[in-house]
Amino acid sequence: MENKEKQKKAAAIAAASYIQDQMTIGLGTGSTALFLIHEAGSMLREGRRFQAVATSEAAEALAVSLGIPVLRPEETERVDLAIDGVDEIDGSFCAVKGGGGALLREKIVAQKAEQVIWIMDESKPVKRLGTFPLPVEVLPFGAEWAAETIRAMGGKAVCRMKDGRTFFTDNGNMILDVVMKEDTDLREAAKEIRQIPGVLETGIFDRICSRIIIGTGNGVRELVN
Ligand code: A5P
Repeated sequence: MENKEKQKKAAAIAAASYIQDQMTIGLGTGSTALFLIHEAGSMLREGRRFQAVATSEAAEALAVSLGIPVLRPEETERVDLAIDGVDEIDGSFCAVKGGGGALLREKIVAQKAEQVIWIMDESKPVKRLGTFPLPVEVLPFGAEWAAETIRAMGGKAVCRMKDGRTFFTDNGNMILDVVMKEDTDLREAAKEIRQIPGVLETGIFDRICSRIIIGTGNGVRELVN
């Protein structure tokens, strides 16, 4: 396994140690969260007892295939612990997420959760957010107008494509990948973008997580917010 993958796996396994019996776990989306879901499946096979809500159809399908009980949000009063990956995170625990296109459900689950742990390899922490384009989920009806508005703010907004076709989220929406000018405060820009009619959510996750776990070449590093 490549180094980066080892780091993701190590972070995921460390995060899984925070899962307690009877908890409802928010299962993240993406390559790092995949390791977590596999680990959760192994824990259940060993006799542990907990259930989950999933942040994407892909996460749900994998969880179900591993025998993890997955609840619908409408039948879930609480989420005790959400564990998910990030695309970038700065020193104040503000993250950019949504590289996998699941940001809206991820944000709903993270906001609902009592505790949130983000897991990552060591390439994810950055001094300043903004190298990774900011994913913005937008209603298809307003997507082009939203992109124009972002361009008028001085940003670049590109409609996400996959395999030569427009990418649609699990919610049937589109993603704009946004790059703002270098000196832009991305948190403030995201607040402004969020106000554009048709924009459903941005990938800025600020002050949401309680702990981050970084896989490194030399074990895992945990930081508490
Ligand atoms: C999914 O929409 C994202 O928010 C992911 O959590 C994020 O892109 C991290 O993905 P990786 O774990 O694949 O890097």
